[in-house]
Amino acid sequence: MARIAVIGTGYVGLTTGACFAHLGHDVICADIDADKIERLKRGEIPIVEEGLGRIVSEALAAGKIKFVVGAVNASSYAEFHYLCVPTPQGEDGSADLHYLEAAAEEIGPCLPTDSVVVNKSTVPVGSTEVVAMHLKRSDVQVVSNPEFLREGTAVKDFLNPDRVVIGASDQKAAIRVAALYSRVRAPIMVTDPVSAETIKYASNAFLATKLSFVNAIANLCEHVGADVNDVTLGMGYDTRIGKDFLRPGPGWGGSCFPKDVAALAKIAEDYGYDFTLLREVLAVNNAQFDRTAQKVLQALGEDLSEKKVAAWGLSFKAGTDDLRESPAVEVLQRVSGAGAQITAYDPAVPNGVKELPLVEVVSDPLIAAKDADVLVVLTEWPEFKFVDFDQLAEQMRGRVIIDARNLLDRSVLLRRGFTVIGIGR
Ligand code: UGA
Repeated sequence: MARIAVIGTGYVGLTTGACFAHLGHDVICADIDADKIERLKRGEIPIVEEGLGRIVSEALAAGKIKFVVGAVNASSYAEFHYLCVPTPQGEDGSADLHYLEAAAEEIGPCLPTDSVVVNKSTVPVGSTEVVAMHLKRSDVQVVSNPEFLREGTAVKDFLNPDRVVIGASDQKAAIRVAALYSRVRAPIMVTDPVSAETIKYASNAFLATKLSFVNAIANLCEHVGADVNDVTLGMGYDTRIGKDFLRPGPGWGGSCFPKDVAALAKIAEDYGYDFTLLREVLAVNNAQFDRTAQKVLQALGEDLSEKKVAAWGLSFKAGTDDLRESPAVEVLQRVSGAGAQITAYDPAVPNGVKELPLVEVVSDPLIAAKDADVLVVLTEWPEFKFVDFDQLAEQMRGRVIIDARNLLDRSVLLRRGFTVIGIGR
């Protein structure tokens, strides 16, 4: 079993550290945030992520994971150093490498001889080289090992991945990193660092393209009178297309897709390739936010002064409390900006949201619906399907539901006199 340092305890770092500890390695996770480290030492998990609390507690009890402040305190003792620091979107769409470079500079002098630094952060093509330059250590290999974890299922995705991608110029380093996954049953693909970095961006950009395409098809279905649920079912039977990632919605979001699609477009531009398709993918997504907001506004009618909207869902998808680039927030900003009053409920978001200063957040879906003229469903939380719809009918003033995730059972709602406006149906 190996000694692994994980630098950065965000959702990627914490999941990576906890899962490696679960696989039997000795892990030290480092962060600059002392409060967070104190809480993690007590087994308190700062994010909503299924199964993560349990495996962190088990690893703490087994002495397999430690949490320390400062990268140097983790890296001085490890053979592998996973860089899991944020790479936020810069002004021009490119990824900001400032945290990554700073982490490399910091750990460079303290790395044990012959250790391996692994880039897990999503970084622009060529960054493995950049990290090597900042480490200033000729005896240390830098390897790319991109993550493909989804928020909400990150632990499951780490332990049962579709593939593990390792990008290394040094075969020995690649084999050493591959050995860390010996207890994981998945194809391990070894390639060069630039290809590994490109695989990460290409995968996210392809999935985002698939979603923009599906949303555009849903819009077309509305024009021609087709039902997108049947259309995507029919498409998904073709194994070349696949059944996954075909659900239309209010637009796609999260901490990865918007930033990674923009970053890939920028990388292409920097290398002299005009990736017009990706710009269109982003434009279609923005138009989807507008279109969903328009559905709500149209249902409210011309005079918004006394109108109330109930919103179910704020997080960017079910299973997480993450609000970053959330389609729900995008849509509600547009509806609120037009002057409608909004009361929202999300099972993972208990308090008001700074991006939506005028939106009241309550602790129950039926309270959110009180006196609402229109209800809009923006995140696909399964619990919304099981709300008491008789009580919903009593609570609401109006009878229109915009189901932007095609989540609710239409027949149940139609029987109670609701008008349901979905996406692509
Ligand atoms: C995404 C990728 O799926 C992961 O493989 C990748 O590792 C991760 O980004 C990352 O780069 O870190 P995540 O951001 O957690 O994972 O979210 P997804 O589950 O991919 O969903 C993204 C958005 O697409 C959400 O707004 C979701 O609601 C939407 N979506 C997804 C749909 O509208 N329809 C679908 O059928 C699927």
